Amino acid sequence: METPPRTLRPIVMPTFAPAPDLDPEAYDRMARSVRALLGIDLSQYKPAQVWRRVNGFASAKGLPDADALVAKVQHDAELRQAFLDMLTINVSEFFRNVEAWDALVAQFLRPMLLAQLSVRIWSAGCSLGYEPFTLAMLAREIAPHTPVKIMATDLDDTILSRARTGNYTEAQMAGVSPSRRARFFRNVGSNWEAKPELQALITWKRHDLLRDPYERPYDLICCRNVVIYFTEAAKVDLYKRFCDALRPGGVLFLGATESIPNVRNVGLLPAGLTFYKRP
Ligand SMILES: C[S@@+](CC[C@H](N)C(=O)[O-])C[C@H]1O[C@@H](n2cnc3c(N)ncnc32)[C@H](O)[C@@H]1O
Repeated sequence: METPPRTLRPIVMPTFAPAPDLDPEAYDRMARSVRALLGIDLSQYKPAQVWRRVNGFASAKGLPDADALVAKVQHDAELRQAFLDMLTINVSEFFRNVEAWDALVAQFLRPMLLAQLSVRIWSAGCSLGYEPFTLAMLAREIAPHTPVKIMATDLDDTILSRARTGNYTEAQMAGVSPSRRARFFRNVGSNWEAKPELQALITWKRHDLLRDPYERPYDLICCRNVVIYFTEAAKVDLYKRFCDALRPGGVLFLGATESIPNVRNVGLLPAGLTFYKRP
């Protein structure tokens, strides 16, 4: 059966069940269970947002509260996966915010690919693989012969195993033009599959941005729409670590609505739109 595409639809909070106030003890219980069951450490996520989302999700599933949700998640593998998807929010698409990709190509990606002997890129929080495949298509269009390595990482193993297949439904392919489909994908039944030419550029790996060591050096790090629910302290720490993981002159590419306040404190310089450069 075809997997329906993920959409940008927010969780709908039923009007009869407003989000309860944050109850620190109940939150702690839920966070401990999430750590044990899903391996996610919520201590660096913003509690108010997480609590609202968890309770909205419980209501949507017809459950009275977070305790009932956690109890059910222990025995229900499908609900467990849906809960993980909800917590990590893996909504994505090819060429997401296309004007940002155009700017990336013009200002950074094209010059790098044409001037350097090789280019190393990290797609951090790559979800279903739209971002690393977008990067792979652009790299092959701009410089077909420049060696390019794209490290694609995500916290969520299930999402990664789907990303690895490079298989997308017609609806998921919305951002890919007919000429790019013809060049970089082949038809498999009613779906599309990325050709080996793209797959060869990408290495997939499970990686938790809040807990695991960062490899280095990268020319470009894309971390877009991943950190929205991280605490401010966790974000500062993460941006410092991204700075260390970039080579001097390397570029950090964030989501369209993201920015780094006091950017110099993390060692980076603003470089237009949602780009930051390691001096
Ligand atoms: C909204 S998607 C963003 C996908 C893509 N970067 C984009 O902009 O379209 C967020 C992804 O971040 C991942 N994520 C959330 N927390 C993470 C963490 N601590 N470490 C690594 N990945 C994480 C989620 O699993 C999800 O796939």
